[in-house]
Amino acid sequence: KKKVILDVDTGVDDALGILLAVRSGEMDVLGITTVNGNVSLDQATKNTCKILQLLGMEEKIAVVKGADKPLMRASHFEHHVHGNDGLGGALSDMSVHMQTTAGHASDFIVEQVRKHVGEVTLVMTAPLTNLALAVMKHPDLIHQVKEVIVMGGVVQGFGNVTPTAEYNMYVDPEAAKIVFQAGFPSLTLVGLDVTRKALLTEEHIRELGDSPIARYVQESTANYMKRYYERNGVRACALHDPLAVGVALNKQLVTTRHYYVDVETRSELCDGQTVCDFQNRLSKEANVHVCTEVSADEFLQLFIHALRA
Ligand code: BDR
Ligand code: CA
Repeated sequence: KKKVILDVDTGVDDALGILLAVRSGEMDVLGITTVNGNVSLDQATKNTCKILQLLGMEEKIAVVKGADKPLMRASHFEHHVHGNDGLGGALSDMSVHMQTTAGHASDFIVEQVRKHVGEVTLVMTAPLTNLALAVMKHPDLIHQVKEVIVMGGVVQGFGNVTPTAEYNMYVDPEAAKIVFQAGFPSLTLVGLDVTRKALLTEEHIRELGDSPIARYVQESTANYMKRYYERNGVRACALHDPLAVGVALNKQLVTTRHYYVDVETRSELCDGQTVCDFQNRLSKEANVHVCTEVSADEFLQLFIHALRA
């Protein structure tokens, strides 16, 4: 099994990513670290615990809290996307009995990576604050991690918060810059370029059958789909974070190209933009494997197969 740590700001799609990771049966989830993002750190943590309780995994997978704000900026919640609670109103009557693990997420990441040198995949589906803190404290970490998969950015297309910035990059661009420039030997960017193509439809939800998990997916995505419909005229929603988990499970789902990528941090209009040097104008060494294409149907099949009753 692949050893992974998931770093989340749970969030409707983060929750689906956790479900995929656990239900795939192919991942040994060493822990889930939480961070400020879609919702507050406390809410993201609570949501993560609820999802593990839904899965019956609350005794088996540790949840560790991390940063409660970006490195240098104020929080930027997305309640209009994920609902006030972050789970689109689903599981609202579930009480949280699971205990979180003491310590800071960034230290947990370091500790686990050192315990399993060369084996741990970090799947980051939130602002990159926790990992930036970890590499700032322990720069040698980059040589001990197996690989880093980041859901974030967009290299050819428009943003989803500002005209140019994707949410996870926009919220903590300084952290993203630190992570991109840290020198990880293998860092894959699963950006909007591909996640926008990984669409979950109502038909897919029906294919999940009838189970607590299927009902949860239906309920939590209802408003998320409504928003998508209002914008795009199609009843569906993008599985941003689950696709990052999918890529961690199976690289064949995507085509990647190796480029130098950096993040804008000092612009009035473009903060959080991921700038990809397609033509190597800057003569810098490539640092990011950018996903350019995805086999969306294959990914959706993997997702449905894992979550089906
Ligand atoms: C990303 O931003 C968040 O709203 C989602 O959870 C996902 O991680 C998509 O841009
Ligand atoms: Ca997320």
